[in-house]
Amino acid sequence: MGMRGLVADPEECSMQDLPRLTELDTHLAIFVLATYGEGDPSDNAQEFHEWLKETDVDLSGINYTVFGLGNKTYEHYNAMGKFVDRRMEELGATRVFELGLGDDDANIEEDFLGWKERMFPHVKEYLGIEDSGEEEKRQYELKVLEDANHNDIFSGEVARLRSYTKQRPPFDAKNPYLAPLRVNRRLQKGGDRELMHLELDIEGSRIRYEAGDHVAVYPTNDLALVDKLGEIFNVNLDTIISLNAIDPDTAKKHPFPCPTTYRTALLHYLDITSVPKHYVLKELAEYATDEKEKERLLLMAASSEEGKAAYHQWMLDPCRTLLHLLEDMPSCRPPLDLLCELLNRLQPRYYSISSSSKVHPTRIHITCVQVKYQTSTGRTNRGVATTWLLGHKTSDRVPAEGEPPLPMDVRVPCFVRKSQFRLPSRSTTPVIMIGPGTGFAPMRGFIQERAFQKEQGKEVGETWMFYGCRHKEEDYMYREELEKYEADGVIKLSVAFSRDQAQKVYVTHHLKEHAADVWRLLGQQNGHVYVCGDAKSMARDVSHLLTDICRDQGGMDAQQADQYIKTMRSQKRYSEDVWS
Ligand code: FAD
Ligand code: 2AM
Repeated sequence: MGMRGLVADPEECSMQDLPRLTELDTHLAIFVLATYGEGDPSDNAQEFHEWLKETDVDLSGINYTVFGLGNKTYEHYNAMGKFVDRRMEELGATRVFELGLGDDDANIEEDFLGWKERMFPHVKEYLGIEDSGEEEKRQYELKVLEDANHNDIFSGEVARLRSYTKQRPPFDAKNPYLAPLRVNRRLQKGGDRELMHLELDIEGSRIRYEAGDHVAVYPTNDLALVDKLGEIFNVNLDTIISLNAIDPDTAKKHPFPCPTTYRTALLHYLDITSVPKHYVLKELAEYATDEKEKERLLLMAASSEEGKAAYHQWMLDPCRTLLHLLEDMPSCRPPLDLLCELLNRLQPRYYSISSSSKVHPTRIHITCVQVKYQTSTGRTNRGVATTWLLGHKTSDRVPAEGEPPLPMDVRVPCFVRKSQFRLPSRSTTPVIMIGPGTGFAPMRGFIQERAFQKEQGKEVGETWMFYGCRHKEEDYMYREELEKYEADGVIKLSVAFSRDQAQKVYVTHHLKEHAADVWRLLGQQNGHVYVCGDAKSMARDVSHLLTDICRDQGGMDAQQADQYIKTMRSQKRYSEDVWS
């Protein structure tokens, strides 16, 4: 619309200055906000959330609209977007356009595009904006640096230059710790899935964690994949580049740390394996010289029903990545620097820490499974982080004072994120843990902690573990450990093997068998319940089942049982650590 725009990270600006937007002739604040966990804001919006909750500032005259990023599989769907939308209005601001809700369980980009296409014409009219008709193509311009000093080039650091060679605490999302990987062991005894137990060494890092926290890992993309992209684009990947913002006033000077090389950008900074989004296809269409390919790209980029269907059928269903698209559309060869501008930043992956800091204060354990699946075009897609971790080297060497640090290839950039998933403060409170598959991860930390408390001579309440896997002889992770805890009286163990018989047997079946005990612990002894793993079906099924148990065993009607579970959740007696 020929207007100046500012993209602002709430963490990096003083949101208290919001009322000052009225100093501009025309303005609109568009809040795009994600909801996380139990209806919480994302880390960078926490302070804004707190401020907005408590402030009584007068926001009259402020024009705003909100788009929420959420996921319907979670209980508190888009809580943050809804909160900000409501609160801004309460404080006197003007909602120029209705709240938009994105559902990541379906297609969040399509939700956004649909909302945006209605929002802009409305806003234009409301604010009386004359459209200049010009659409700016690029936000960044490419500079190739012929003779840059190698010390001044980013080599994968998240934000600060040389932060990987000169590590300085405190460590967080923008300054991850390069933890030496000490253990990388397979947990399966058979089958074709790779289950991993990893141990990150955090000694001397000043990183602290509690059982239930998450560790975030910054992965590296597959080297071979990056080489293939280099071939397709026919560029020397070691070219040193800088993508510089064209608008001198923008807060974001580069799309990722620059200067760097194409190789580093593709390995460390860009998400090259997700299915490219609509807006990427729209740009790619300009570079397809074959008419059929161009037409298909334009159709898939369109927000019409036909366009969406084509996108689903050709991109989403066969999980076509950028590389697959370029292979299947040989006439489409955009410049690599354009893709560097368009692709999203490679995101860290979160893992539920599978150890207790009481037992392993200097180690963080991870339990994970490699993502690997066949697509309908006959390709094998592999998860970025889990594939990288699977092949990651370990080292047991500890450099002495003054010695150089361990090499990068035995270290893992990581940071800890605190969570709300916590054992009850009193060790005597009974707990029921439900964690099939890798959902066992945080429960392992909890069990270690309960065992530790027991060893210390503390009185420890009943601790039930409902675990599930496919086959007893193949993917029963940590079997020896679990059986020992059971034999020592630390836990009561119930394992559901889903594929060892004709009919599926799940943790829910086992919970049902133990309904009387479940009610005794939860209903009569005020116990806590923990659920971890697949958000989509398992966590939902467990929640329904526990509601049924309350109804049947606790003599409630359906509504009372629902309310009982809701109250448990609000009292933090029912906690979920789930992902989809
Ligand atoms: P990616 O490269 O991110 O690929 C995964 C994507 O591939 C999926 O999002 C999906 O789009 C696609 N995909 C996967 N399978 C298929 C399929 N069959 N068909 C089509 N598309 C498919 N994971 C653990 O293993 N252990 C944990 O303890 C753990 N804890 C977590 C805690 C939290 C709070 C969160 C948010 C996630 C957790 N995860 C855990 C998941 C983890 O963060 C990663 O998402 C997972 O390891 C995959 O990462 P990746 O980079 O290997 O895969
Ligand atoms: P399946 O893969 O044989 O269906 C860990 O992933 C275990 O959880 C597997 O044994 C898996 O069984 C099982 N599982 C899948 N869906 C589930 C659900 N809705 N409730 C409980 N367990 C489930």
